[in-house]
Amino acid sequence: MSLVRSLVLSAVAASSALAYSPQFAFAPPAEVETRTLDELHQAALKEGGVVTVWHGGDEPAQQDDTKTAFEARFPGMTLNITVDLSKYHDINLDEQLAKKDVYVDSIILQTLHDYPRWKEEGALLNYKPAGWDQIHDEYKDQDGAYTGVYIISWSNVFNTKYINGTNPVEYSDYLKPEFKDKLVLTYPNDDDAVLFQFQLILNQYGLSWFESLLAQNPRWVRGTATPVTLVASSNGTYSATFTSSVGFAPSDPLNVTFPTTGPFVTWPQTAAILADAPHPESAKLFHNWLLTTEHQTGKWSVRKDVDAPTGFNQVLDTPGTDPTKFSRFMADRAAVERLRFFFENKIGSAQGLTPLGDNL
Ligand SMILES: *[C@@H]1O[C@H](CO)[C@@H](O)[C@H](O)[C@H]1NC(C)=O
Ligand SMILES: *[C@@H]1O[C@H](CO)[C@@H](O)[C@H](O)[C@H]1NC(C)=O
Ligand SMILES: *[C@@H]1O[C@H](CO)[C@@H](O)[C@H](O)[C@H]1NC(C)=O
Ligand SMILES: *[C@@H]1O[C@H](CO)[C@@H](O)[C@H](O)[C@H]1NC(C)=O
Repeated sequence: MSLVRSLVLSAVAASSALAYSPQFAFAPPAEVETRTLDELHQAALKEGGVVTVWHGGDEPAQQDDTKTAFEARFPGMTLNITVDLSKYHDINLDEQLAKKDVYVDSIILQTLHDYPRWKEEGALLNYKPAGWDQIHDEYKDQDGAYTGVYIISWSNVFNTKYINGTNPVEYSDYLKPEFKDKLVLTYPNDDDAVLFQFQLILNQYGLSWFESLLAQNPRWVRGTATPVTLVASSNGTYSATFTSSVGFAPSDPLNVTFPTTGPFVTWPQTAAILADAPHPESAKLFHNWLLTTEHQTGKWSVRKDVDAPTGFNQVLDTPGTDPTKFSRFMADRAAVERLRFFFENKIGSAQGLTPLGDNL
């Protein structure tokens, strides 16, 4: 189906879903889940033992660890998880909704602006996983249509072998001579969370910082995992990036820092179950498991009762970032588009096929 046709179809679906007032759809208020994981596991097996999930990301194997851990914890279950750019998953989901042929059970995406719209369209199941009251209000829909399931953050990521002992911390560090030709960055005009990072940095350091950055001759790539692949390479061609996420304790030779005065982007990666999901109990099992305190530990959590990683504050108490801002940025599509073209005008349109297929 052509993109135009699918967009037309989704517009039709949106208007027909809104032909009645969603306020009169009378979706029952969701009660907080009371079943144990083992009870949910049994319910999921009765549905057939498969849960189909679309997860945002930019490398096909990015969720392999999640799949392995989930399937080991719940014998008989298959986590059929597909990674793609959130901005492509959402269009494909709109197409499914338009055709009334929903086969995805759960979506976990970066495109936070989609969720209120999908809720209005009646596309999402109101559901409150166990521990609902422990999830910060900032990250969840009050009716349970969607909730953040973990926090993603950009940070400075560098190869300890090639930075000569001076870890980059603030964005001004990247203007030093040792980073000339050594930076690899994701096109801000290809990923809205990277776009937001550049907006925050330019708000702090001004346009002259960006002009000096361009004079460092960074390499621009698609996807936020590709900079990490290149920086981790042993040949030292590239030494650092600030448009990626590798957690708090990456393995050698990588290391991370977070800017102390400069701003950085964090957001709750947000999950929902489709109202017409073919395997709703299986999707509930998956979401409940993602939100367990065990699974939330070791990273910035969406839960109040999980400590921040050792040496860090809770993300809501961290100077330099505000995880609630990204959804507001994403909601203003006209402003996003203007900013995207501001950068495209300066660095050109994103080159290359989808980062999922570039072997980097
Ligand atoms: C697994 O997911 C893919 C992509 O969403 C879908 O095409 C396929 O039908 C799913 N497989 C099963 C067994 O549900
Ligand atoms: C690190 O120091 C070595 C030796 O002084 C020098 O050759 C190299 O260019 C430096 N690398 C960076 C990234 O500054
Ligand atoms: C260094 O490694 C990267 C990634 O493997 C590769 O793309 C690049 O061509 C290599 N550069 C040199 C100079 O060998
Ligand atoms: C990584 O960075 C942290 C914080 O700057 C530092 O304490 C730690 O020693 C570094 N690890 C390595 C392997 O360089």
